[in-house]
Amino acid sequence: MPLLAIETSCDETCAAVMSEDARLLSNVVASQEIHEQYGGVVPELASRMHLQHIAGVVRKALQRAEVAPQQLNALAVTHGPGLIGSLLVGLSFAKGMALDLGVPLLGINHLEGHLFSNNISPEGPQPPFLSLIVSGGHSILAYVEDWQRYRILGETQDDAAGEAFDKVARILGLPYPGGPQIEKLAATGNAHAIAFPVARLKDAPFDFSFSGLKTAVLYHVRKALGNAAATLGEAQSLTSLKADIAASFQHALITAILETTVRAHEKYPVASVALAGGVACNKALRAALVKLGEARGFQVFYPPPIYCTDNAAMIARAAVIRLTHPRRANGSAYQLAPQPGLKLGSSE
Ligand code: KG4
Ligand code: ZN
Repeated sequence: MPLLAIETSCDETCAAVMSEDARLLSNVVASQEIHEQYGGVVPELASRMHLQHIAGVVRKALQRAEVAPQQLNALAVTHGPGLIGSLLVGLSFAKGMALDLGVPLLGINHLEGHLFSNNISPEGPQPPFLSLIVSGGHSILAYVEDWQRYRILGETQDDAAGEAFDKVARILGLPYPGGPQIEKLAATGNAHAIAFPVARLKDAPFDFSFSGLKTAVLYHVRKALGNAAATLGEAQSLTSLKADIAASFQHALITAILETTVRAHEKYPVASVALAGGVACNKALRAALVKLGEARGFQVFYPPPIYCTDNAAMIARAAVIRLTHPRRANGSAYQLAPQPGLKLGSSE
């Protein structure tokens, strides 16, 4: 008996169907390109686009899975964290559908979805493992003690890792979302050209801070571009200057993530570290973490890019884990409300 999952927490309208034994039967994502022209997600537009897409996306997911709505035994939906208007669209749709079909509805934490995105594959990490969720909205280091027991060890104190990529991209005049653009440019630059700062937070060893790094890039660009304007056409072209900045920024950000991972692994010497979220698409980060894992004796997991960025397959996976490792009664469909600031934790 399969399960349908719906995810609309930000700017992607997603639906997926998964069997009870965690086989993914379909996964549909409708991205909203409209935000590119504004340089970031516009919440009001995101809600409207979700409204336009949701019925078609759900229909497509069921068709691809060759599952009729009446065959579903449960529905799962992201109820937080995220944009309230976006969450409301998915939640209202899922509530209506669950009530109509007379099946239970599970509210899933979006971050719990990212946490288990490496387990969409049967070869994923087994608890206990450390999870690094690095996305546009979050940078979290979590300890997954068991399938239903996990806790946040550290978070970002300011910007999320993806947000830092996006802001630095904007400083360099690159389009949104900036992560893939920076990665591409960085591949042609020198990562050691500029020593950007790596934050080390004394009293919060597992926390991140990326806003100082972003500001350092901004000041460097102002100064360097001023000099470049005077000497352009000479030793260094503007393109190679930008490539060096992108590569050095990316290097500093990755160093911060690696150093934090080492501190956590010293305290929690687990056999697996799982990378998740949009920034987990970054090949330089993946390679650096794999190298660290080889040196310290842990295996590194990262999902294929489609499961790094927002998707409903990860929500379905978290729901199946919830059903197979029950910890508490799931609330009724009527009571589920959007929770924009929902935290990751065993108590929610
Ligand atoms: O997980 P996600 O799709 O959305 C959130 O839940 O936030 O992550 C989107 C973020 C954006 O900030 C984007 O710039 C970043 O992930 N990103 C990357 C890469 N691909 C996407 N950052 C670095 N390198 C990449 N290749
Ligand atoms: Zn996300």
